[in-house]
Amino acid sequence: MVSFKELGLVNTREMFAKAIKGGYAIPAFNFNNMEQLQAIVKACAETKSPVILQVSKGARNYANQTLLRYMAQGAVEYAKELGWEKPQICLHLDHGDSFELCKSCVDFGFSSVMIDASSLPYEENIALTKKVVEYAHQYDVTVEAELGVLAGVEDEVSSAVSHYTKPEEVVDFATRTGCDSLAISIGTSHGAYKFTPEQCTRDPKTGKLVPPPLAFDVLDAIMEQLPGFPIVLHGSSSVPQEYVDMINQYGGKLPDAVGIPEEQLRKAAKSAVCKINIDSDSRLAFTAAVRKVFAEKPGEFDPRKYCGPARDLMEELYKHKIINVLGSNGKAE
Ligand code: G3H
Ligand code: 13P
Ligand code: ZN
Repeated sequence: MVSFKELGLVNTREMFAKAIKGGYAIPAFNFNNMEQLQAIVKACAETKSPVILQVSKGARNYANQTLLRYMAQGAVEYAKELGWEKPQICLHLDHGDSFELCKSCVDFGFSSVMIDASSLPYEENIALTKKVVEYAHQYDVTVEAELGVLAGVEDEVSSAVSHYTKPEEVVDFATRTGCDSLAISIGTSHGAYKFTPEQCTRDPKTGKLVPPPLAFDVLDAIMEQLPGFPIVLHGSSSVPQEYVDMINQYGGKLPDAVGIPEEQLRKAAKSAVCKINIDSDSRLAFTAAVRKVFAEKPGEFDPRKYCGPARDLMEELYKHKIINVLGSNGKAE
């Protein structure tokens, strides 16, 4: 048993309380490799932003859970080396799907876990979430739960349509489970194709797809039911057009990729939404930068020569999100 406190990590409790009061959101960035982690830590150290490092199922399969945890421990030391005296870094299990997995993360030094039982019937979601909360809270590890189903692929749960969170269920759910934060469904979804072209309109000037707005009325109703309770938005990448264009220009094929407009995330960040999950945007930045090097320098075969530019572009992306979208800069001085 290793406590996250021994590793210099923090849980989400204080982070979220401050974020709600201050009208900003904490970035929750997924990481799968060293370059991504370096970019996240550099961006957060420079902007003095609290951060949640997320480990997904895909990341565990790709990079190994043990190695990722040690990397997060290293991230705390790296942050200090960069001059960030008191780094506020949370290590979070993204989309945990069983009690056993959540327990193993708690025991191994994660400071926060998500139990995603949103695909189960309501009472089963409550029972499993409650079991995880009871275990995690013994070690002061915070727990995120989910109500409602996001469209698209939610790890291995595939759903073609989004089932918005029902505001009339949230008080019962939060009270009976004791969860610390709640991920909700209001129209976001995972990946780079969040909406079909049929769900969008087209900007007559640019021909680009304009997605439908998020269901802010549902968010408002949830906040009314649970005043001051931390809300989480998954699937919140914006799919920046510049990266999509770059990928397509250098031989990629991402037609009609579309994300959540940043002004909508900015609006959400000012409310009780205090954790915003971003993964796909960093994948796009990485891919765009690598494709550019491959296209412009076909003789290059040193991975540092293409992973380096990818890291730089991701760092730029993370800083932009922190400063211009979430407003978390300067909140972890
Ligand atoms: O929730 C989805 C995240 O983007 C992680 O996806 O399991 O492919 O790493 P992944
Ligand atoms: P995106 O695919 O929009 O980046 O969402 C990531 C996410 O929700 C991770 O849990
Ligand atoms: Zn997610």
